[in-house]
Amino acid sequence: MRYTERYRPQFHFSPERGWLNDPNGMVYYNGEYHLFYQYHPAGKTWGPMHWGHAVSKDLVHWEHLPIALYPDHLGTVWSGSAVVDWHDTSGFFNGEPGIVAIFTHAEVDGQMQSLAYSSDGGRTWRKYEGNPVLDQFKGEDFRDPKVFWHEETKEWIMVVAGGKVRIYSSPNLRDWTLRSESDIWTECPDLFELPVDGDPNNTKWVLSLGGRGYHIGTFDGERFVPETAALPMNYGPDAYAAQTFSDEPNGRRIMINWMNNWEYANNLASITDPWNGVMTLPYELSLKTYPEGIRLVQQPIPELQRLRRTHCRFANEKIEPGTNLLAEIRGAQLEIIAEFELGTAAEFGLKVRTGDREETAVGYRTADRVLFVDRNQSGAALSGVYEAPLAPENNRVKMHLFVDWSSLEVFGNDGKVVITSLLFPSQASDGLELSAVGGDVRLSALDVYELESMWLD
Ligand code: FRU
Repeated sequence: MRYTERYRPQFHFSPERGWLNDPNGMVYYNGEYHLFYQYHPAGKTWGPMHWGHAVSKDLVHWEHLPIALYPDHLGTVWSGSAVVDWHDTSGFFNGEPGIVAIFTHAEVDGQMQSLAYSSDGGRTWRKYEGNPVLDQFKGEDFRDPKVFWHEETKEWIMVVAGGKVRIYSSPNLRDWTLRSESDIWTECPDLFELPVDGDPNNTKWVLSLGGRGYHIGTFDGERFVPETAALPMNYGPDAYAAQTFSDEPNGRRIMINWMNNWEYANNLASITDPWNGVMTLPYELSLKTYPEGIRLVQQPIPELQRLRRTHCRFANEKIEPGTNLLAEIRGAQLEIIAEFELGTAAEFGLKVRTGDREETAVGYRTADRVLFVDRNQSGAALSGVYEAPLAPENNRVKMHLFVDWSSLEVFGNDGKVVITSLLFPSQASDGLELSAVGGDVRLSALDVYELESMWLD
C-alpha cells in the first residue's frame, strides 16, 4: 500500500517524496487538469527548484508524472503559470494549440521570466531558446509571473511580483511591454475576473496577493484599480502562494494553495517522511454582496463529494453542556457539515481529532461573532488560535470541515470565511465532539461523511 505513512494526507495532493512548495502552471487542457509545483526532489527542505508535475481528470485523484522542468544554465525554476496557446500566437506549435509555461529563472544575481512549451499535452517540455523573455528588473525581486489571455484587448497579460506588482502585455508571449506598476509587496500574484452574485453582466476583478489577501477592483488591460483595501483571503496559518487554473472548462475559477507557512515549513522535515509539503483542496471562487460590501467566497469544489463513503446525519437536536452527540463516531478523514441556530450558549462547535490529551477545536463565540480554530492541543510541532469574523445569517452559523491525517480546512457560512490549518495529531486521536459552553445551541443539521483516500487504485 502506498501513501500510508504517518501524517500522510489521504485526499490532499503531496509528492511521493521530497520537498514541495507553491502550486505552479495550473492549466486545463485536453481533458486533464495539470498541477505543477515547486519541487526539490533531492531533499525535504527548500533547495534548487524544479517543476514537479501531476495530472487529474477530476481534480480529486492525481497521477504523478515525471519532473517537467529542471534547473539549467540560466538558473533554477521558480514559480510561474501556464496557458493554452490556442492559436499558436507564440509560433511554437506550427499553427496547432499547445501549452506554454511562463516561469521565473532564478540565479544568485537575478530573477527573470522565461518560457517552456509542450506540444504533447505536457508530457515533454522544451525551454525557449530566447530565454529569458523578461529581465527588466533582474536586480530586484522580480518573480512569479501569472499569465492570462485578455479577450477585450486581445493580448496576453502578465502580472508579476517583487517589490511592486507589475502588469505587462504581449501579443505572442515572447515580447512583453510594461503597462503599469503598483507599490504592493507580494509573492505569487494572480488576477482574474468574476461575476458578482452570479450576474455575468456585472463583473469585478480580483487581485490575489499570494493567497494571503486580495483586492477587488477593475482592470482595463493595462492597470488594476483597487476598489477595496487588501482583505484577508484565508484566516488560517497554512494557505500560501495560491494560484488559479487557466482554461477551466466550466468557466469556474478554482484555486489551490500551498498548505504551509514559510515560518516553519522547512522545520516540518522532521515531522513528515519521506515528503514535506502538501496542497490545499481546490477551492472554487466567487464574489458575493454582503452588508459590508462585495467579498470573495471560497467553497470546496463539488467533485470532492466523490470521496464520500459512510454517512451519519443528525437533525434538530438541542446541544447542552456536558453532552456529546458524536461520542460513537470516529475518523481521521472526514467531511463534516454542521448548521447551528444560535441559542444561549456563549460558545459552541466541534472538536475533531480528539484523543488522549489531544483535540482541535472549531468553535463560534457568540458575543464576538468569531469563528475560530484552536490547534494548541492538536499534537506535534504546531500551535495557535486562528479567528475569522463571521456574522450569523438568519441567526445561523454553518461550519463545513475537511479533516485529513494532518490538516483541517473550515469553511464558515458557505465560504464567507476559510481557516486552513496543518495539524499533527497522533493516529489514535480520531474522536469527535459536539459541544456547547455556558448555555445551549440548536443543531439544525449535521452530516458526517467518512472520506476515502484519493490514492486508492
Ligand atoms: C513563494 C516563493 C515564490 C518563489 C518560490 C520559490 O512561496 O517564495 O515567490 O517563486 O517560492 O520556490
